[in-house]
Amino acid sequence: MAEEKTSAEGGDLNRRQFFAKLGLGSLGIAAAGTAAFAYQYLEPNVLYEPSPVVNAGKPDRYPLDSVTLDVNNGIYIIHSQEGYFSLSAVCTHLGCLTAWKPELGIIACPCHGSKFLVQPEDDKKPGDKIEGPAPKPLPWKRIWLNDDGDLLVDRSTDVPPLARDSFVKV
Ligand code: FES
Repeated sequence: MAEEKTSAEGGDLNRRQFFAKLGLGSLGIAAAGTAAFAYQYLEPNVLYEPSPVVNAGKPDRYPLDSVTLDVNNGIYIIHSQEGYFSLSAVCTHLGCLTAWKPELGIIACPCHGSKFLVQPEDDKKPGDKIEGPAPKPLPWKRIWLNDDGDLLVDRSTDVPPLARDSFVKV
């Protein structure tokens, strides 16, 4: 009889211990969840994007009267008589990557047929649309030389076409 009581008490104890441990475990899980949530909340919510500035290398990479497409960065480096300048290679219609057509002397979009000038013509400037659905010219991008003599292009900054500062002279 005494043994039964002891065993029953032992059973109560085990049950009590079990529920105490279960409670502690639940509290631990809740605390870990709260800590993870607090960490996410306090961590800066920043999206790291690549720099819009492209190093296009030394100017002598670009012969006079050449048009060079940088496919990875979506820009053209053009070496004209007036100096080096840069045009966006992204079509202003729906954003396709355009292509230089040396046989025609123009930039053309493969998607819906927009065509853009590279050489000034009458009252039109390089980048202006010749035909097609593109609503705007290809924008000119800021270009300059850094201290190492490399051409840098800022894809995020448009500059006025044919302006003196829109060219780099070497
Ligand atoms: S995306 Fe270039 S013409 Fe449509």
